[in-house]
Amino acid sequence: MNVLLIGSGGREHALAWKLAQSPELGQLYAVPGSAAISELAGCPGLEQDDFDGICAFCAQKDIGLVVVGPEAPLAKGLADRLTAGNIKVFGPSQRGAMLEASKQFAKEFMNKHSIPTAAFTVLYSAEFAREKIKANKKYPVVIKADGLAAGKGVRICRDEAEALAAVSDFMVDRIFGFSGSKVVLEEFLTGREASVMALVDGHDFLMLPVSRDHKRLLDADAGPNTGGMGAVCPVAVSAADMETIKKEVLQRFVNGAKKSRIPFRGVIYAGIMFTAEGLKVLEFNVRFGDPETQAIMPLLKSDLLPLLHACACGELAGKTLELYDGACVSLVLASAGYPENPEKGKAITGLEAVPGDVTVFHAGTVLRDGAYVSNGGRVLTVTALAPDPARARARVYEAAKKISFEGMQYRKDIGV
Ligand code: AMP
Ligand code: GLY
Repeated sequence: MNVLLIGSGGREHALAWKLAQSPELGQLYAVPGSAAISELAGCPGLEQDDFDGICAFCAQKDIGLVVVGPEAPLAKGLADRLTAGNIKVFGPSQRGAMLEASKQFAKEFMNKHSIPTAAFTVLYSAEFAREKIKANKKYPVVIKADGLAAGKGVRICRDEAEALAAVSDFMVDRIFGFSGSKVVLEEFLTGREASVMALVDGHDFLMLPVSRDHKRLLDADAGPNTGGMGAVCPVAVSAADMETIKKEVLQRFVNGAKKSRIPFRGVIYAGIMFTAEGLKVLEFNVRFGDPETQAIMPLLKSDLLPLLHACACGELAGKTLELYDGACVSLVLASAGYPENPEKGKAITGLEAVPGDVTVFHAGTVLRDGAYVSNGGRVLTVTALAPDPARARARVYEAAKKISFEGMQYRKDIGV
């Protein structure tokens, strides 16, 4: 089967790496892809928002499955376009993508279908938001821009001044554009977090191993939030919590999507927090996590391609997942200035010195005169699978020491 992968980051490099191992794969293509992905897939030079071009390419190359990595094309309706053209797609409908693209939509969905989540209020204007904040007596409080904001639209506000500043930034100055036209004011929760992902075909779900990413820039969870500085998989979850995840989060999600007439064939990602009052869903994403995917793919013994295809066809029932024993750690090597103003164009050295049992997924690199240079905030994810987390961590950090580019920064405590 010929497969087209949409996206260009570290997550897509990991998906391409896994799909390329499938005995069922014919040709693999990627749009837009990247220099590193082009070592595994043909990159025809299309852009991911060129839906006409993508549909024409699928017909021309007899694509049996399109796998969509990032949320943006899903939120713009790529899956609906492909489905209308009878092309099988792994990735939810535009309505399904609203679960990620609108915090209000996600919170209302969770309340409607009894999925445990933090208490919240939607604020539709800056004036109303300021009134609500002035009446609020309990801090911290969480303020979230309603729309997509590349992981930066969430502020934990310690006092009234910070909450008012968030409203001003999101709703008046519109630092995230239209995404800040509404905000969600949310109860502040505490507890450890985990990333729960499951393949969903509209009727059934198949859970992937639970992982954890490290969102803050600096060690010991200090510094600003980022897209994720590293991930570990699997994460130990008690039998009781696992039961709750399956029954109260994933099953209710699948039933809810059906009831609310949301076509959903793809991956649902629930960011959860284990609080003293039980586990709660902080957010839904409608795509694989990044960098969690880089830590999950090496653990999968099962062939990914038939699973994603079954999902796209609504035939997931009875499918199972086989995993390798052990643990996987994935470490992000980021540019100086990340997340605010990443420096780019720095020569990367030492990739050839990385041992064979460590995999380096490229997130933001380009080839210049035949050599890789940095081209984004998150540049590389260094990943190792080992019999236990301590050994996976040791392999990753040894390999990271061999790689260098000017200003390279990374956390020293991933998986601790
Ligand atoms: P989100 O994009 O909604 O997952 O939020 C990003 C991060 O903000 C989460 O991973 C949490 O660390 C934090 N966060 C979000 N919502 C809450 C909340 N209600 N209470 C405490 N922290 C939160
Ligand atoms: N690592 C968090 C995310 O993919 O949203």
